[in-house]
Amino acid sequence: MRPIQITDTTLRDGHQSLWATRMEIGDMIPILPKMDDVGYWAMEAWGGATFDTCLRFLDENPWERLRTIKKHAPKTPLKMLTRGQNLVGYKHYSDELVHRFTHAAYRNGLEVFRVFDALNDIRNVKSSAEAVLDAGAHFQGTISYTISPVHTIDSFVEYAQKLKELGAHSICVKDMAGMMVPFVTEELVTKLKKEVGLPVQLHCHYIGGMAPMSYIKGIEAGADTIDTAVVALAFGNSQPAGETMVAALRDTQYDTGIDLDKMFEIAEYWEGVRKAKGYKRGTTSLLALEVYSHQVPGGMMSNLVSQLEIQNAADRLPEVLKEIPKVRAEVGYPPLVTPMSQIVGTQSVLNVLTGKRWSIIPQEMRDYVLGYYGLSPAPVQADILEKVVKASGKQPLDPSIAPGSLVTTTYAEVEEEIGDLAQSEEDVLMYALFPNEARAYLERHHGDVEDKVFMTGDEANVDREEEDTMDVRHIETLIKALDASGVAEVVISEGDTQVALRKADAPGIAAPAAPVAAAAPVAAPAPAAAPAAAAAPAPAAPAAEAAPAAGERPANWIAITAPMVGTYYDKPAPESPVFVSVGDSVAAGDSVCILEAMKLMNEITAEDAGTVREICVASGDALGFGDVIMYIEPV
Ligand code: CO
Repeated sequence: MRPIQITDTTLRDGHQSLWATRMEIGDMIPILPKMDDVGYWAMEAWGGATFDTCLRFLDENPWERLRTIKKHAPKTPLKMLTRGQNLVGYKHYSDELVHRFTHAAYRNGLEVFRVFDALNDIRNVKSSAEAVLDAGAHFQGTISYTISPVHTIDSFVEYAQKLKELGAHSICVKDMAGMMVPFVTEELVTKLKKEVGLPVQLHCHYIGGMAPMSYIKGIEAGADTIDTAVVALAFGNSQPAGETMVAALRDTQYDTGIDLDKMFEIAEYWEGVRKAKGYKRGTTSLLALEVYSHQVPGGMMSNLVSQLEIQNAADRLPEVLKEIPKVRAEVGYPPLVTPMSQIVGTQSVLNVLTGKRWSIIPQEMRDYVLGYYGLSPAPVQADILEKVVKASGKQPLDPSIAPGSLVTTTYAEVEEEIGDLAQSEEDVLMYALFPNEARAYLERHHGDVEDKVFMTGDEANVDREEEDTMDVRHIETLIKALDASGVAEVVISEGDTQVALRKADAPGIAAPAAPVAAAAPVAAPAPAAAPAAAAAPAPAAPAAEAAPAAGERPANWIAITAPMVGTYYDKPAPESPVFVSVGDSVAAGDSVCILEAMKLMNEITAEDAGTVREICVASGDALGFGDVIMYIEPV
């Protein structure tokens, strides 16, 4: 007998793959004791997207979530997925922060750390590995599986050997795109078992249905543990269903010993939650199945579709799917997993939308090409490297320098920055990783909000008890509540704290630039999107007022237009000088502004040399595709 162990991914990858990571702690609590009884090797409960989403969308403290899960499921080891030096974020953090974060995660309930690096660059894993071992936890070294001319079975085995040398307790093969075919799995697992000799865990995404077959071949070849999700959150972009695998292995030498009926009880619960929340069950679309041709992982696909929808260019998806393999080859075949999936995906979208390949190169792509994310699996093509060196004015990073070692932010610095808002090391770490989201969260829950001047229309829920007294939990609630109240001031009690809020146009307070015109009682909550713009109309650009009306402009002026939907900024950072003003001369290739789109800051450059004659938009304006940003008179 060689019983196979199961890691359940429902609480992390399951909903990340199928529910946009929107599972809440309240959804989990009722069923955790039953899940704890199944006998899983581990439950995956934490990772990058879950941490981020808790803060950004769910108003949940990710640390509190972890402690709550542990409390309700004390027996089963909890596992997290970490991005090595990137932890649960999107960039490198200092070794000190990596250590502190890992220790905090351990003391809050995590026992198994699956550490991966998108580029399989061992230098990006080292610090995490040391921290996990130092904490006394299980260090699962992870291979990011992908297919390319430079990724071979031997290259993966060699990488696993390096993970072993760092002290890995086990090796995970992470097949995020569901691309690993059964016979490759067999060969890879056989070699890993023979040459590395550590327990092997398979993490495959279902996507086109390859995963259960790969699991079986992998198990025959010696794999010890497989990842599955409960059926309500399985299949499609998620893992295979645990029920399927348990049934498949029953009464064989690999019998998991797990009670299938217990699993079905749990599945029924989750099926109810799924329906109540309105999410679809995991299915495989033709587009997803075509992964065997386009190689774009499921999670990345949904990102691309939404990026293109925002750009009103959903019909360009087929072109983008053709562009991705080209870009990937040009930049040395990075595996398409976070953050490389976003970086390669966005570059491909830009290449298609602008109609001029590599005319816009986001900062993240520049950093990657120059080696700041780690070593690319194959060298970046010379012409692309040259473009990036020219655009950024920087040379590639010396390969003898580990990119993570360049980050020297200390815990003390972060602690000082967030100040009294943070009441624990966990709060500080949360802020270190997601400054904006964490600050907003901490303000909502601990912050001093006295005499807050607020703007009409911010989004919130109202829990109104009396005329002008409200029981509230969050600042947004206060804002909307006051908005809807039709009174100038309300006093809100939260625990021992009393907070007085006044309308921005109430007597005694200087009216802000945007008067609260809509301060009249609002009958229904205002839609979320409109108010921000309505409350703070951007002042017209001074230059635009004096500028000639359309039709009066000299015929030789050249318009620089928005190559995509995004937000216009006139400077690279708040404290920087503006790129250009009216009257400035620009050379071809000079940056003239930023267009923030797809979560990236994209520098827009002048195609022709000339003089800036008119700037038609103001910093912060939302631009549509083709909107004129400025006019240049060519020299
Ligand atoms: Co996954």
